[in-house]
Amino acid sequence: MKLGLKPNANYGNLKDSYLFFGISKKVTAYRAGHPDLPLYRLGIGDVSRPLCDAVIKALHDAVDDQARKESFHGYVPECGIPEFRSAAAGYYARRGVTPDPEEIFVSSGASDELGDILDLFDPSSPALIMQPAYPAYVDASVMAGRRTLFLAAGPENDFLPMPPDHTEAELIYLCSPNNPTGAVYSLEQLQAWVDYANRHGAVILFDAAYEAFAEGDMPHSIFETKGAETCAIEICSLSKTAGFTGTRLGYTVIPKALERNGMNLNAMWVRNRTTKTNGVSYILQKGGIAAFSEEGLKQIRENILIYKQNAKVLTEALDSADVRYWGGKNAPYVWMQCPKGMKSWDFFDLLLHEIQVIGTPGEGFGACGEGFFRLSSFGDPEETKIAADRLRKLLANL
Ligand code: MLT
Repeated sequence: MKLGLKPNANYGNLKDSYLFFGISKKVTAYRAGHPDLPLYRLGIGDVSRPLCDAVIKALHDAVDDQARKESFHGYVPECGIPEFRSAAAGYYARRGVTPDPEEIFVSSGASDELGDILDLFDPSSPALIMQPAYPAYVDASVMAGRRTLFLAAGPENDFLPMPPDHTEAELIYLCSPNNPTGAVYSLEQLQAWVDYANRHGAVILFDAAYEAFAEGDMPHSIFETKGAETCAIEICSLSKTAGFTGTRLGYTVIPKALERNGMNLNAMWVRNRTTKTNGVSYILQKGGIAAFSEEGLKQIRENILIYKQNAKVLTEALDSADVRYWGGKNAPYVWMQCPKGMKSWDFFDLLLHEIQVIGTPGEGFGACGEGFFRLSSFGDPEETKIAADRLRKLLANL
């Protein structure tokens, strides 16, 4: 008898292709038909600045370590080399948050971790995702067969919805500074979410990938609130903070005090990582340690200021065309209203075909994103200026 292996039927509930994969296919097709036209990329949030000198030097040194018997490393600890975990803890300490290094786990980046971390939770626990949202939250939940409830974010709440009176959701996704809207929760607002989660026994998955863009009093971490250690996991990345999108490195904080039904989530993640990974490359972790050094932090800040200046160039173009937008100040994303009530994919096509500017249609971040459009400030400054100028002219003539 032939036995048929059953594939994961949840995949049948996904959209045909992942948002950025689908956009990249559209752009490739356009490029094939217009090979001579330059394209201006304000789409996926991929960095354009190279890794800073302090990181590059550390990576080179680490490669040399691997060339010598006395400094060579084989397997490294799965949850992170102690020096990396301490360096990340030191980064938190600058803001008065003091995780134990053993509460910090190295990762290959936030997007990988946002899917992997779901292993800690029973698939029957529903998730609450505010929309518009980074599409990987929804897709990873769908793949796991998890029921998802949505919380609408929109102009009426400045894209910062607050806890509902009641929800059955046991897992709550929060992202601040937010992708895609650029909105950022104040400390008081985050405190309200933490109090809600503690009251209801929910766990917050806090995506802090864009924390380095928060300014002034805006919180960088959910652990700046009181009581987050009993209800939150924070997922962080060096991708946007330090230009590691192509290098892949991140870290996740799981407090030792976080328990549900008598099970300790920090201990469970140690069990998971030591089983499912052999850790992250020694070389990359050395690069991460350098990013957290005094010199590294100074250099990565310079890159962030360049991206912030790009955001300013984009928002000035929108101001001059009298277009409403959010974000761009505490976040690398500018979230604009599509002009003339246009649908977001129509606006995407218009920008691509008329001015060769690539952005991201709001609908790709969920139904609540329809009618909006995301511009990324991670591009090259000169190209961003040209793109902003083209956008300003196109909007003025619509
Ligand atoms: C985005 O454009 O939303 C992000 O860059 C995608 C990612 O970080 O995976």
